Amino acid sequence: MNNKAPIVLAIDTSDLNTAISWVKATEDVVSVYKLGLEFFLTFGGEGVRAITQNTEADIFLDLKLHDIEHTVAGAARAVSSLKPKFLTVHASGGAAMMRAAADALPTTFVTGVTVLTSLSEIDVQSIGFRDNSLESAVRLASLATAAGARAIVCSPLEIQAIRLAVGDAVTIITPGVRPADVAHNDDQVRTMTPREAIDRGANFVVIGRPITMYWQQGASAMRDRALEIAHQINSVH
Ligand code: C5P
Repeated sequence: MNNKAPIVLAIDTSDLNTAISWVKATEDVVSVYKLGLEFFLTFGGEGVRAITQNTEADIFLDLKLHDIEHTVAGAARAVSSLKPKFLTVHASGGAAMMRAAADALPTTFVTGVTVLTSLSEIDVQSIGFRDNSLESAVRLASLATAAGARAIVCSPLEIQAIRLAVGDAVTIITPGVRPADVAHNDDQVRTMTPREAIDRGANFVVIGRPITMYWQQGASAMRDRALEIAHQINSVH
């Protein structure tokens, strides 16, 4: 057990040394580090190992896999030696694909991505989803967990409905959060504070720039910012 905050820090940088420095700076506060496609396609498994050598925190490998089951199972096996705690797979790839990933990686939380939070209702309709984004996300979350996914990524607006649908054993992770003291002046449109997201039933919040932008002011400023957000999450009502 540890007393780290339920923060997944998004390591969105294309510089490996910067990535390692961010981890070292925040390691005592942050529970999980999220490595995405840009990182993985640039540095591969060696890059992931360079991160895990510097931390005992868990790795969230955000590859958002979506392909035929055979290919997804092979991709999942290809990253198994990296021992990610979480590996994302698009739930819209269907039950058999999710099951293939879960079977290939029994010790990883195969994590179903529902509806991307960057999509508007109009986008969701134009793709051809029958229902609105909330209903679609709930359906995809139910499908994914029934097929072996142990975690779900969703918008903070969908946490409560998904929690009702999937029960307490499933880990809910939400991006699209902004600390209470930050103006909404970037590309996050429908946001919620980390505290609100946790109060609504999320297990982890994904945070990137609100923490990593402090790197310009030095490692201790960045760590202090992570700690401040941790306190916002943990403070008594
Ligand atoms: O905006 P921020 O830097 O906090 O984003 C952190 C992570 O959250 C990004 O790596 C991205 O994958 C994810 N994100 C998302 N939906 C958004 C914005 C960001 O899933 N609308």
